[in-house]
Amino acid sequence: MVIVAPSILASDYANLARETAAIRASGAPWAHIDVMDGSFVPNLTGGLPEVAALRRATDLTLDVHLMIARPGRYVTRFCDAGADIVTIHLEADSPENVRAALAAIRGRGKKAGLSIKPGTPAERVMEYLSECDLVLVMTVEPGFGGQSFQESMLPKLEFLRAHTSPDFYLGVDGGIDPATAALCRRSGANVLVSGSKFFDAADRTAFVRRLSQEEQG
Ligand code: DX5
Ligand code: ZN
Repeated sequence: MVIVAPSILASDYANLARETAAIRASGAPWAHIDVMDGSFVPNLTGGLPEVAALRRATDLTLDVHLMIARPGRYVTRFCDAGADIVTIHLEADSPENVRAALAAIRGRGKKAGLSIKPGTPAERVMEYLSECDLVLVMTVEPGFGGQSFQESMLPKLEFLRAHTSPDFYLGVDGGIDPATAALCRRSGANVLVSGSKFFDAADRTAFVRRLSQEEQG
């Protein structure tokens, strides 16, 4: 089963409750929340109050993507704010601290995700596979929505899928539309994060169906 996770980064922040209702109405089961610290990435978005507010507004699975340096400082607080999945970046801290942060997320009973930037080889994820529930392959440089999909990331998906079970969450984030989603699914992705293209779609239900169904890709 393929999961579509619309990114609220591209939504109307003045109306987040309405936007999460629109995600739910589209049939997408997860809402993706991008948190940026102005240091790990050159942009600043999201945070604990936003996750807590969204938790009150929706029963969607809240998929929180932390693009922050030394994420171990904050992961348990994001769990307690209502995140269901907390994804950190492999590049954001030492291997020892990355490992501790993943364990802290799982210790709160939440799913732990590990993301890699375009310049990070998929092989570097291998040593953490048993310690996480999701791997998120960035298909753009993290920091901004609306960028072009990097097709050169597809071999990473093939590599990671070859080393994981079919139901392990293998996600892609950045530049996802029906055409790039089809490429990602064929390479093994089963979680598709989509921001600008989802919120731009005239018919979001049809958009989610196109993303998640191979035959309509
Ligand atoms: C980028 C974020 C993405 C972003 C994707 O750093 O991690 O989640 O919202 O946006 P689109 O789908 O517009 O590329
Ligand atoms: Zn993201």
